[in-house]
Amino acid sequence: ADVHYHDFVVQATPVKRLCKTRSTITVNGQYPGPTLEVNNGDALVVNVVNRSRYNVTIHWHGIRQLRTAWADGPEFITQCPIRPGGSYAYRFTIEDQEGTLWWHAHSSWLRATVYGALIIYPAPGSSYPFPTADRETPILLGEWWNADPITVVRQATFSGSPPNVSDAYTINGQPGDLYSCSNTETTVVPINTGETNLLRVINSAMNQELFFMVANHDFTVVAVDASYLRPFTTSVIMLGPGQTTDVIITGDQSPGRYYMAASPYQTAQNAAFDNTTTTAILEYKSAPCPARGVPSYPVMPSLPAFNDTPTVTSFTQSLKSPQQVPVPTDIDENLFFTVGLGLFNCPPNFTPAQCQGPNGTRFTASMNNVSFVLPSTYSILQAYQQGIQGVFTTDFPPVPPVQFDYTGNVSQSLWQPVPDTKVYKLKFGSKVQIVLQDTSIVSGENHPIHIHGYDFFIIGEGFGNFDPSTDPDNFNLVDPPRRNTVGVPVNGWSVIRFVAYNPGVWLMHCHLDVHITWGLAMAFLVENGVGELETLEPPPADLPPC
Ligand code: C2O
Repeated sequence: ADVHYHDFVVQATPVKRLCKTRSTITVNGQYPGPTLEVNNGDALVVNVVNRSRYNVTIHWHGIRQLRTAWADGPEFITQCPIRPGGSYAYRFTIEDQEGTLWWHAHSSWLRATVYGALIIYPAPGSSYPFPTADRETPILLGEWWNADPITVVRQATFSGSPPNVSDAYTINGQPGDLYSCSNTETTVVPINTGETNLLRVINSAMNQELFFMVANHDFTVVAVDASYLRPFTTSVIMLGPGQTTDVIITGDQSPGRYYMAASPYQTAQNAAFDNTTTTAILEYKSAPCPARGVPSYPVMPSLPAFNDTPTVTSFTQSLKSPQQVPVPTDIDENLFFTVGLGLFNCPPNFTPAQCQGPNGTRFTASMNNVSFVLPSTYSILQAYQQGIQGVFTTDFPPVPPVQFDYTGNVSQSLWQPVPDTKVYKLKFGSKVQIVLQDTSIVSGENHPIHIHGYDFFIIGEGFGNFDPSTDPDNFNLVDPPRRNTVGVPVNGWSVIRFVAYNPGVWLMHCHLDVHITWGLAMAFLVENGVGELETLEPPPADLPPC
């Protein structure tokens, strides 16, 4: 196995999009950032040097970080941030994982521009469980703001109103030629007649689930979140922020130019969102040149409507592991977490309109009515390891404080969650089941819920209130998909299972960044096991000081 050394210099770089140049935080001057390519079993040492004026950390989204929680990256969870002028080397090994993952800043909203692909090829001598494609192309879906993302997040945090919506979606950093002032900046992906191309699609957008299609070309879906699937064919996929999907396309259409396009899947009612479409161009290398002066518009796919939940449901229900998988049974920790929005600091007997600023009232979000507050002095992992009191408590509730109709009107106390820093403790090796239930408080919404440090099996999903007496009859305990981020259906629920074999502190949160900013997060504290392979390594010497 190899050790790959990289330097990531975080710095302000002028980037021009939509005819405007803005000073943008990048890694090594690149937007999106560099693609990391490794083999299963390799180790990575990424030395992050912070030359920006912001605090920064980098998270390796989907890497399990077995025994190396210190390298996971979320600020004030597993480390204090790298201060301007500081540096930190993230050291970790890829153990039994292959496929498409990614890395991103995990500090404020810097990940808007600080992100890149992390591709894990099979170990030397082993191969994909499907025919190797002639080409492979990472496709990073993103969001671009003309404003500085740090200004956008300030609005989301401190004003009563939601953040500004982005000015464009992007594919590999480019909005594409459907946006004005962008037509020379479209990403072109080559293909040849009869060739196959493995597209490694990553949703790195901040706040938007996205549909993705390629005109006239079907996808064979082979993996999600670096876990293989039983291959199936579809013309459209949907990814929440954080999720990845690997699809194979074949050059089986008449030589020409075809748009690859992504557009929003939006479920929150009455919420402003950017309803535009980003494009790249799939171009047959043998395509005839257009006659001079005649524009040749690529063929456009017909994307689903922004609120097309049935298409999303049929896609997620097609995801199956290739064979029987070891789903844990005899559950030790039966958890039920609500995920939803709320409001903060409202007057007594409020109407929602009175709670949306400017009088110190604002949006909030919670799990089990606790709105997560990041510590600001120590990381939770350091505080735990050094026995420092007062940073967090371990009384995160395993079930909501009161049960209610999660898809109906509920009392005002549940609209106003309590801000706090609470973790839930798990014994090493516990078998965990979590029901994730969307609430319709403020608005029902599809939430992409991500857990650090673990993959999990998604054994069921549905709409309405989860019913513990009948819904378990339909759990898939045979071949459910394995993921690190689950899209909890709007006004519905998902059930996940995993075994807590990785010691450390692991953030679980909605990957819509506006929701994590509002508190839709919690953390698990997984205690050490007994053997050397079951205990957290000691903290690295260069861990940034708090
Ligand atoms: Cu992809 Cu906590 O993040």
